[in-house]
Amino acid sequence: MPSSHQRLGVNIDHVATVRNARGGAYPDPVRAAREAVAAGADGITAHLREDRRHIRDADMETLARELTVPLNFEMAATDEMVALALRLRPHAACLVPEKREERTTEGGLDIVGGHDHLRPRIAALGAAGIRVSLFVEPDRAVMEAARRLEAPVVELHTGTYCEAMAAGDRTRIAAELARIAQAATHGAGLGLEIHAGHGLALDSVGPVAALPEIAELNIGHALIGEAIFVGLARAVRDMRAAMDAARQGRAA
Ligand code: PXP
Repeated sequence: MPSSHQRLGVNIDHVATVRNARGGAYPDPVRAAREAVAAGADGITAHLREDRRHIRDADMETLARELTVPLNFEMAATDEMVALALRLRPHAACLVPEKREERTTEGGLDIVGGHDHLRPRIAALGAAGIRVSLFVEPDRAVMEAARRLEAPVVELHTGTYCEAMAAGDRTRIAAELARIAQAATHGAGLGLEIHAGHGLALDSVGPVAALPEIAELNIGHALIGEAIFVGLARAVRDMRAAMDAARQGRAA
């Protein structure tokens, strides 16, 4: 049974989505980050997209300057974003694929086909002391490709598992969980630190949190959505409790 503390990274992008719907400064994603930390978040994640649809440059600057917990800068592997990360020096950078037309990140990076453009970027970020994670599909070959690219961390895409949960499709749920579990074991065996995220909510987090190799979960949309009803602090505490319960093998 896994006993080690599994970190909860709270993604605050969608506080910025609500702010930007009206222009102006409210609600402030940096305030949300502070509240999430006070409620037990181990880290804060923010995705500065190319089109700046939610988080903006000024948000990243303030987060990098003020946070007392690790900042995970989620970004496309572009020259612009790498340069910004090298200037802001967040604790971590999570490299994701990014398409302008998508509503959210739709899948992991395709690294098996020899994406060598990532290699110098991973190396430059790593040399600056930034811990690089690659957002990838839960797959054995992908774990090996991440190792070859010399990334220290992978974040396993849990979106397909969460879609199966939403559809109530037990066969697919079991298959997707098995895929995540196998990739986590294989990746950890190769020396990768394993994170997971995308689409996780209170009713889907347990089986993923219970996987012993997974050191960190990054969760955003469901937490910010739940915060409308119970407040952000309670939403974070409830998620934390569900993760802890799953790791200790009991119901939340
Ligand atoms: N991890 C990565 C790499 C993501 O792109 C996202 C979405 O921004 C998340 C985690 C969090 O996903 P969600 O907002 O669905 O919890």
